[in-house]
Amino acid sequence: MQQPAPSTSLPERARRVIPGGVNSGQRNVPGLTDLVISRAQGASFWDSDGRQYTDYHAAFGPPLLGHNDPDVAGAVAEAGRKLDLCGVGVTEGEIELAETLVELIPSMERVLLTSTGSEATFHALRVARAVTGRRLVVKFQGCYHGWHDSVSLNVISAPERVGGKDPISTGILPEVLDATLVLRFNDPDGVRAAFAEHGADIAAVIVEPVPHNVGCLLPEQEFLQTLRDECTAHGSVLVFDEVITGIRHGLAGWQGVSGVVPDLTTMGKAIANGYPVGALGGRADLMDQFSSRPGAPVFFAGTYNGHPAVVAAALATLRKLRAEPVHEHVFRLGERVRAELPGVLAPLGVPAVVTGYGSVFVTYFMDELPRTYEDLLANDTGMFVGYRRRMVDQGIFELPLNLKRSHLSYAHTDADVDRLLEATERAVREQLAAGDAVADLSGASTMGGAR
Ligand SMILES: Cc1ncc(COP(=O)(O)O)c(C=O)c1O
Repeated sequence: MQQPAPSTSLPERARRVIPGGVNSGQRNVPGLTDLVISRAQGASFWDSDGRQYTDYHAAFGPPLLGHNDPDVAGAVAEAGRKLDLCGVGVTEGEIELAETLVELIPSMERVLLTSTGSEATFHALRVARAVTGRRLVVKFQGCYHGWHDSVSLNVISAPERVGGKDPISTGILPEVLDATLVLRFNDPDGVRAAFAEHGADIAAVIVEPVPHNVGCLLPEQEFLQTLRDECTAHGSVLVFDEVITGIRHGLAGWQGVSGVVPDLTTMGKAIANGYPVGALGGRADLMDQFSSRPGAPVFFAGTYNGHPAVVAAALATLRKLRAEPVHEHVFRLGERVRAELPGVLAPLGVPAVVTGYGSVFVTYFMDELPRTYEDLLANDTGMFVGYRRRMVDQGIFELPLNLKRSHLSYAHTDADVDRLLEATERAVREQLAAGDAVADLSGASTMGGAR
């Protein structure tokens, strides 16, 4: 066994035994490779040197209530005292959570729990293929649906890779990539054309109704409606991947906002405020194909599905979201950021647009609000990453990776927003003065294509 020398730093110890020193490819951020997190509470986290950061990264989205929310933490501790995983039958908590999701999410007649969002999207596509007997799935450039092969392509693509297949990993069978069609977001004509050509072979269309994995592309109503209409007309399964939008943008998800109801919905992240949960729900005739029902043909399993502590976290989160003005608070702060940041940036003479929805915001350094991924190629990556690295130096954490969105939580305050506006002004000014001085942008997106 390798024993670390007493003087070895924590990051060095991590890199010795964990590839790259982190447990997700999205956590290794250029310029911050020595970051060791030791505590999180409310709107902040602390590193192992005791430095506090106001957190707008929010672990890619789960802690809508803020970190380590006392009601959620209390419910988890209580569950742990009474119960742990037994792996047979069902618990009362799982029933209550499923009832709550079915009540809240318009498309959900039945629901199954997973541990991650990736598992939920995997099973959505598997059941769609099983029920339709078809081969193809459709995804959109810029959307991310997890790490599994059918959807591991065309997220943050380099300009020369847009329009072709751009896998985010090596090791995927070419025939799997061949079975995924990649279309343009917000392009209803492209969707109609794809259905005209391949409709009889399309098992599913999967979409982030708001593509937040590239910041924020707001969907046009005609686009979402076209997805619904074409899927209905051709007997394909429409999957809304609401892993980010699900609870964060409203208790009924984006389907509640848009009125466009998919056949299946995947959820995760904010449902349990940071505890590992995913959910797949939708039409009863589709969901009843899963092997949780005796004799049904679509295999579904997971040792940790419906873990009592995670279920307790989800129930406590949803209870609090229904009882307290959480959405009102985060939407108000989000509106403030989106309304006030442009005024802060305009005098600096830098082309910038601020967009987002509810608690989510993002500043792109370009002239026009983007509609499609192709529009985002105009974003000044050096500026986007550079000002965020300078924000980190000021104790404000917006993830310094290209196109990443930022999140507000119930624990953020107006004073935090004041500080965010001031810090942004200072960071952008410094970045402009330094010129394009971000030396290493090679890892500025870790969702780019794999060569
Ligand atoms: C929209 C969307 N779908 C699916 C996933 C995968 O979820 P998980 O990381 O929990 O597997 C993510 C993760 O970021 C996501 O943003």
